[in-house]
Amino acid sequence: MVKKISIIGSGAVGSSLAFCLLSKLNLEELNLIDIADGLAKGVALDLEDTRGILGFSTQVRGGSDFSLIKDSDIVVITAGIARKDGMTRADLLKINGTVAKDVSQKIKEFAFGAIVITVTNPLDLITYIVYKETGFSRNKVFGMGSSLDTSRFLNILYKEMKISADSVEGFVYGPHSKDMIVDLSKVKVSGQNLDRFLDKKKIDSIKQKVQLRGAEIVKCLKTRSAHFAPSLACFSLIEAIDRDSNKIIPVSVVLQGEYGLSDVCMGVPCVINKKGIEKIIEIEVSNEDKSELKKVKDAFNNLNL
Ligand code: 2OP
Repeated sequence: MVKKISIIGSGAVGSSLAFCLLSKLNLEELNLIDIADGLAKGVALDLEDTRGILGFSTQVRGGSDFSLIKDSDIVVITAGIARKDGMTRADLLKINGTVAKDVSQKIKEFAFGAIVITVTNPLDLITYIVYKETGFSRNKVFGMGSSLDTSRFLNILYKEMKISADSVEGFVYGPHSKDMIVDLSKVKVSGQNLDRFLDKKKIDSIKQKVQLRGAEIVKCLKTRSAHFAPSLACFSLIEAIDRDSNKIIPVSVVLQGEYGLSDVCMGVPCVINKKGIEKIIEIEVSNEDKSELKKVKDAFNNLNL
């Protein structure tokens, strides 16, 4: 059972995730860290004030001192700048890559045994940097990207079909970018293929809607990106760890030969339990999608992270 969680970064995603954790789990300790000391402290005080309504016994603390994360079971990295209108996730690499390196050193120093979940963009690149910098095993460092994309996908399908997401089996994998793989031929609705429920024109329009959903939100918000769905997608990973559930969720992980790819991070379905990633599941990938994934890997490796 998870007792102590620390969230690095007290912006919109970090604070929403903290609120979600307090609402759903009765942790012993929840810590928020931010280089802006007042921000982390203020958010922690505000969150703590929900105790009178939610009734948790969690000790909630906030500050800029990384020793707060000492011996955490899980550390979540949300720190860094968010995407603004007109930017791709990759544009954030220079600043957020440096943040990720600094944070990794602190995690190594204070929370050596922790499972680390990355949320900061560009998600797959940041996950790889944290994996390298911490030296932790790949089953303990993974990124929340494809689980968010999958939730968006299920929402878009719901709006087209008016059938509950619970009755739909399907997920998005690959990079957390507009090149994510949305393979509609694998979707099952109560065991039936999607074309029993939607016509071809509708099915064809879904893929692009999912791929551009994050950008659609940034276009509306202008100076920041989504936070409700990202924080809840991150919570679903923490819940699978806490419950030791062995649930299959797509997460960004370092591939070492799976899918014919190595030295690259991308979202693939994984069995998640108290150890972090218990197992990477290799699904069948079409030749077209294989060559898309290979292109992503080549671009990734050209960055020489
Ligand atoms: C998104 O897709 C923040 O990358 C995140 O909205």
